[in-house]
Amino acid sequence: MHTNVWYVDENVDSDKCYPQIVEAAQLLKQNEVIAFPTETVYGLGGNALSDRAVAKIFEAKGRPADNPLIVHVASRPHVEKLVTTISKQADQLMNAFWPGPLTIVLPGGESVASNVTAGLDTVAIRMPDHPVALALLKAANLPLAAPSANLSGKPSPTSAQHVIHDLDGRIAGVVDGGSTGVGLESTVVDCSGDVVTILRPGGVTKEQLEEVVGEVKIDPALSDDGHQPKSPGVKYKHYAPTAPVTLVDGSYSFIQQIVDKRRAEGLKVGVLTTEESKELLNADVVIPCGSKEELITVANRLYDVLRKFDESNVDEIYSEVFTHEGVGAAVMNRLTKAANNRIIIE
Ligand code: TXA
Ligand code: MG
Repeated sequence: MHTNVWYVDENVDSDKCYPQIVEAAQLLKQNEVIAFPTETVYGLGGNALSDRAVAKIFEAKGRPADNPLIVHVASRPHVEKLVTTISKQADQLMNAFWPGPLTIVLPGGESVASNVTAGLDTVAIRMPDHPVALALLKAANLPLAAPSANLSGKPSPTSAQHVIHDLDGRIAGVVDGGSTGVGLESTVVDCSGDVVTILRPGGVTKEQLEEVVGEVKIDPALSDDGHQPKSPGVKYKHYAPTAPVTLVDGSYSFIQQIVDKRRAEGLKVGVLTTEESKELLNADVVIPCGSKEELITVANRLYDVLRKFDESNVDEIYSEVFTHEGVGAAVMNRLTKAANNRIIIE
């Protein structure tokens, strides 16, 4: 299959018509799948009302069928058509954070294709805060099911080049609107019960949610392997570069000892560091990932850095750890998955 690439300015006016976006929207209406930028990561969109379009998303990504998709909308009236009830907390969260990096799980989902929800009686919905995503949603005039536009298991794409690397020839096209902003996926919250529960940490922090709705719980499955997660996707290996990643919670000299030992054994070793420590550590490949003092920059660059290690053909990757405060919760959640839970503590 030929994969079209349409270049658009990341600052399009989402209420105007652009020929590239109209062409992409036309293909979406024909139940083809198209990748597009959002403020978090690139999504792989398909008509959420069509089983056939949604099946193409799963096929292109190689995604397990029991992992449901997020439905993207451009306006509130679209939400009302997709769910049975909107609780008071859900309404408050939509008002506070939409458009933005928050996905809300609500009761319903009978009106979307059955493979979107993977058989659950809830549906996950988000209004993205990206002019290109909003323009495409408006031009297609459809709710779009869209997971991250990467091959299943790989780091999510934060640029159109990442999408093309993974999915060229497998999808009908990519709308290239430059690099994404947040860099990590949306926060997923369950609003189908009494207390708002975080199912996946992301761009909106627990602290920010609590300011709007009071008590917020965290799905115990996020910190404890004994529980069945409510968000099926979080149980899979994810975000992983080809070389195995190990987190190291210790001093720089401790990290250096590990690296030196592995290099002495003949391995090519990569280290994921920060701006503060990049001069302090020696390895075959050292890639800084933002500043420890400013975790927003770490979130923004993490997936690109993980993909860069793939390009450098290292045998093993060691990574510093970060605080779990604020957006650090999402950074550490993704890094821990990329590392398949491998961590060495000094
Ligand atoms: O930022 C994002 O959320 C990006 C952009 C493209 O919007 N999308 C994204 O989609 O990360 P994906 O498919 O990679 O992750 C969707 C997550 C998975 O963990 C999935 O299990 C969960 O949302 N999810 C979807 N529907 C759900 C539901 N009804 N109940 C619980 N979790 C659900
Ligand atoms: Mg994903």
